Amino acid sequence: MDSRTRRPKVSPVRFDAYDPQFLANPYPTYARIREELPAFHDETWGLVFFARHADVTAILKDRQRFGRDFRHRLDTSDVDPDLYRRIYPPQWPTWTSYIRESFIDLEPPRHTRLRGLVAKAFTKRSSEVFRSQLEGATDAILDKLIEEGTTEAIGDFATPIPVAMIAELMGIPGEDHPRLIEWSRQIVAVFDERVTEEEGALAERATKEFVAYLEDVLAERRRNPGEDLVSAMLEVEEAGDTLTDAEIVGTAILTLNAGHEATVHAIGNGLLALAGEPSAYQAARDTPIGAVTDELLRFDSPLQMFERWVLEDTSIAGVELRRGSKVGLLFGSANHDDNVFAESESLVFDRRSNPHVSFGAGLHYCVGAPLAKVELEAAFSRLFERVAGLELIEAADRIESLVFRGVGSLELSLTPA
Ligand code: HEM
Repeated sequence: MDSRTRRPKVSPVRFDAYDPQFLANPYPTYARIREELPAFHDETWGLVFFARHADVTAILKDRQRFGRDFRHRLDTSDVDPDLYRRIYPPQWPTWTSYIRESFIDLEPPRHTRLRGLVAKAFTKRSSEVFRSQLEGATDAILDKLIEEGTTEAIGDFATPIPVAMIAELMGIPGEDHPRLIEWSRQIVAVFDERVTEEEGALAERATKEFVAYLEDVLAERRRNPGEDLVSAMLEVEEAGDTLTDAEIVGTAILTLNAGHEATVHAIGNGLLALAGEPSAYQAARDTPIGAVTDELLRFDSPLQMFERWVLEDTSIAGVELRRGSKVGLLFGSANHDDNVFAESESLVFDRRSNPHVSFGAGLHYCVGAPLAKVELEAAFSRLFERVAGLELIEAADRIESLVFRGVGSLELSLTPA
């Protein structure tokens, strides 16, 4: 290692992921970390966090030295046992085995096969048909909200649009959606460091119930194939590229979990950024919708932190990293890096380029990104057309998470266009 290589510092900048002030606005803390460190070891999480855009994107794209999984390169005995227990808690075996086998946590060749299949199933239906369906669903929601004048926008607006997407993608009937969403929420709660025994037990039960539910869906689609993702996965199975039932169920759960919560928070955070900012709202209405949704995703990303295993002893940005340890990539910080984004703390809708990392980068780049973009564009384009301004009445505190960023409720008043 070269002589400039150093061990990661322990952060002198206060970094308590659950501090109410940090949760309310983490970006000033991230700016100081980028300026002063830019990587540090956090005792609570057991991770070396990276805060700069250049380091975050370099690590995401570096398959030789980093991975979402380690099993293709290391034995379990090679990795930090405390981290291993946090990532794969033995007391919740069903949850753990689902996580370990879902393709977001696999590396090639298994990742390639499962991801390829899902990507194919997504592109099978035209995103333009999908767009017009979602615009229609958004208009129906807006009819009601405009008439009422005020709304709790997370429940009334941000949630139903991704639900319509699930219906379309999975062919799952509307009356089952609340159950699916509840299971999904309980499963993803375990990603945070501060998960309680009670939350873990709920996640374990939710995984079991979700698996049982999808096994029934699978049996039904075997009898009556449709145009949905589960049927598409069964078709591939029949074509000889055997996917086990467990893989199909795991992939279906992953798609619902990965797709739902992030999209709800992306819409919610976007509304919150625009509410009470008449000039920003007007600027957004006057800008092509794709650029607006990218900037909203950059400005307050719904997913703020992802981890990678370190596969060999190495150093990044001069910081020493041990094989078998983990790094934490602060996406929210990378998206506010002044070296990449001018006026990073403001909404600037006409950026010439917007290389935010809200959908990740490299091998695990969000496979649902094209669908998520259509969802966000449908939601915000119909809102801008029909609503002249938003006023913030009240936002709930930010949810207590370093991984997900969002609010549980958002009271707004709407001025019709
Ligand atoms: C605004 C909404 C969304 C955001 C911000 C988002 C963000 C992300 C990010 C950052 C990753 C990469 C994680 C990593 O590198 O460790 C990812 C992966 C993934 N996302 Fe999304 N996502 C969104 C919506 C969706 C939707 C709608 C779906 C499905 C319909 C979806 C399905 C997936 C899947 C399956 C993966 C795993 C990909 C892989 O490992 O190859 N996401 N997403």
